[in-house]
Amino acid sequence: MSGARYPALAGRHVVVTGGADGIGAALVEAFCAQQALVTFLDIDDARAAATVERAAAGGTVPHFVHCDVADVPALRSALAEAEARDGAVRVLVNNAANDARHDWREVTPESWDAGLAVNLRHQFFAIQAVADGMAMAGGGSIINFSSISWKLGMGGMPAYTTSKSGVIGLTRSFARDLGPANIRVNAVLPGWIMTRRQRELYLTPEGEEKLLADQCLKRVLMPADVAPLVLFLADDASAACTAQSYVIDGGWI
Ligand SMILES: NC(=O)c1ccc[n+]([C@@H]2O[C@H](COP(=O)([O-])OP(=O)(O)OC[C@H]3O[C@@H](n4cnc5c(N)ncnc54)[C@H](O)[C@@H]3O)[C@@H](O)[C@H]2O)c1
Repeated sequence: MSGARYPALAGRHVVVTGGADGIGAALVEAFCAQQALVTFLDIDDARAAATVERAAAGGTVPHFVHCDVADVPALRSALAEAEARDGAVRVLVNNAANDARHDWREVTPESWDAGLAVNLRHQFFAIQAVADGMAMAGGGSIINFSSISWKLGMGGMPAYTTSKSGVIGLTRSFARDLGPANIRVNAVLPGWIMTRRQRELYLTPEGEEKLLADQCLKRVLMPADVAPLVLFLADDASAACTAQSYVIDGGWI
């Protein structure tokens, strides 16, 4: 593997939600390359199988659990199963999300709740489920995925941007409550990261040109660009960092 090595992550139980594709898949690969014990939850079985194969080729074999994180009972039982197998979760990466565009005129109470369930609510319930075990194991690190979209004032997806701003409040609140147990809680705010989904659904030549004009760095960012920041926040190297928001956007906002 290239990049920094974090020996303390070896053998540590890491859970990544939404690890089958995109940034989450890059995180699974990066943690496996650090010899961590990785569990990832997702609904996309086919891409999860491919991620398991790629990650195992460069490190430990990750354990995939099919789980819709918006289904709180299913999320709780997936995390309990993971703890029973690999011990207390020492690193939790709340990464799963769905950035489907939606017109504010067409939002219903049901679609609003569904948007918050997949983009915000599961982060709370995953933390609630693992925090006691993490505390008893001596502490840990929780990394919640937000986004710069709400800071940019992007329209066209209000349930998503509202959720992603809520992630900051969730992060700071849990950092206060869990700090005494040596549990650190931070948020990561990516800019535009060129995952398969972004390329297939949203990227246009004009969009890319505008992005590169707006970013200080004149290249598109890839999922593998995000992984080193998350490894750092997961590892004891960042032992004094909590309650903070880390922007990774090539210098956009
Ligand atoms: N890619 C970007 O430009 C970008 C920008 C800002 C923030 N982010 C944030 O980064 C994180 C990762 O984004 P990404 O672009 O890699 O997303 P992605 O859509 O490429 O991947 C998301 C993964 O989550 C899974 N997932 C979706 N709904 C799920 C559910 N209900 N239960 C379980 N798994 C589910 C998907 O199957 C997929 O594997 C997200 O929190 C996103 O909001 C991404």
